[in-house]
Amino acid sequence: MTLKDKHIILGITGSIAAYKAAYIIRGLVKKGAEVQVVITPAGKEFITPLTLSTLSSHPVISEFFSNRDGTWNSHVDLGLWADAMLIAPATASTIGKMANGIADNMLITTYLSCKAPVFVAPAMDLDMFAHPSTQQNLEHLRSFGNRIIEPTEGELASHLVGKGRMEEPDKIIEVLEDFFAARKDLEKKKILITAGPTYEKIDPVRFIGNYSSGKMGFALAEVCAERGAEVTLVAGPVSLKTHHPAIKRIDVESAGEMYQVAMEAFPGSDAAILCAAVADYRPENASEQKIKRETKGDMTLHLVPNPDIAASLGAIKREGQVMVGFALETNNEATHAEGKLKRKNLDFIVLNSLRDQGAGFRCDTNKITIIDDAGGVTSYPLKSKREVASDIVNKLVTLLR
Ligand code: PMT
Repeated sequence: MTLKDKHIILGITGSIAAYKAAYIIRGLVKKGAEVQVVITPAGKEFITPLTLSTLSSHPVISEFFSNRDGTWNSHVDLGLWADAMLIAPATASTIGKMANGIADNMLITTYLSCKAPVFVAPAMDLDMFAHPSTQQNLEHLRSFGNRIIEPTEGELASHLVGKGRMEEPDKIIEVLEDFFAARKDLEKKKILITAGPTYEKIDPVRFIGNYSSGKMGFALAEVCAERGAEVTLVAGPVSLKTHHPAIKRIDVESAGEMYQVAMEAFPGSDAAILCAAVADYRPENASEQKIKRETKGDMTLHLVPNPDIAASLGAIKREGQVMVGFALETNNEATHAEGKLKRKNLDFIVLNSLRDQGAGFRCDTNKITIIDDAGGVTSYPLKSKREVASDIVNKLVTLLR
């Protein structure tokens, strides 16, 4: 009953999906939440305030003043009352106003006054959703810490098929439940995370790199931050964005740079999660100028070893610090992973194998086995990288206690 006695502001905007707001209210109220509806003028064209006030047992707020008696509807009080604000459905127009602070209706002024976490469930036509303007506005909202409940794919009001359907009411309610159920079991903990690939320069236009996208490491950073940790994320060259304000991100390019930053951050950290795919070797001398093609013959690059970041941190690890490594393998998986666990002085290692479909580089899923230094082995099914990150963090928390 994580929603019991929670105060939820439900913002409704002008979309055909507004009828689903009735189911959202019913679901929230059933779970013990108190719901206050704020609706835009366009929203009222799609669902009547009478339906909404009947279901929520509260008068619906739409205007700055009550038409009946001139009472001032205080968006500031409302913003302070709320434990969460959910805007469902959120149209492209409302998302744009939220992103740019265009406070021309009660819903937006409430949003701007709201101190509680904000959840946004977009609903619109597929082309509107895919438009760079909408995507950029959503990116802005994410950067404010708002949580976007992604729309699903399916038949839209226009009869076109694509991404833009508001998520179903029961799923939206689940997101809120998960949020309030979320443990803050990493509060006051400082976690260092490495993520992404490293690029080792050959010349001004070429490098040695790998296929890591950073998705696994960034999912870990988000989960740790949500569970209360202060995260230092050392990221190789990736195109991902970080959203949580508790993540301090330091971008690096090469293994040498990643090593420097990690060595500096580790002594003040409670734990380190080494998820980066670090190049083990780099060209001995990067050419100042672009290397030209020789007219004939082979070309040889002389490679020298990079520092092993995990092993270097393992060598200075002090009592109470926890170190988590990864092993990306293609054969003899367990043997290789166990070797790395010992060699790098890790507390546990997360094994992922490129032999498993949907695991490893670039995909949104992963399939892992956790091997700990006491010989414990736990295998997990294929899951989203976010869920995998939660499994890893659950294990980490038991060691940090
Ligand atoms: O980024 P994604 O596309 O989401 O892909 C995720 C991933 C496959 C990169 C990730 O799940 C993963 O397996 N990361 C580790 C990849 C790797 O380099 O594994 P390894 O077995 O070579 O290294 C073993 C451990 O030592 C790792 O914790 C690695 O970060 C660390 N290491 C390795 C070499 C080095 N010079 N310094 C290190 O710290």
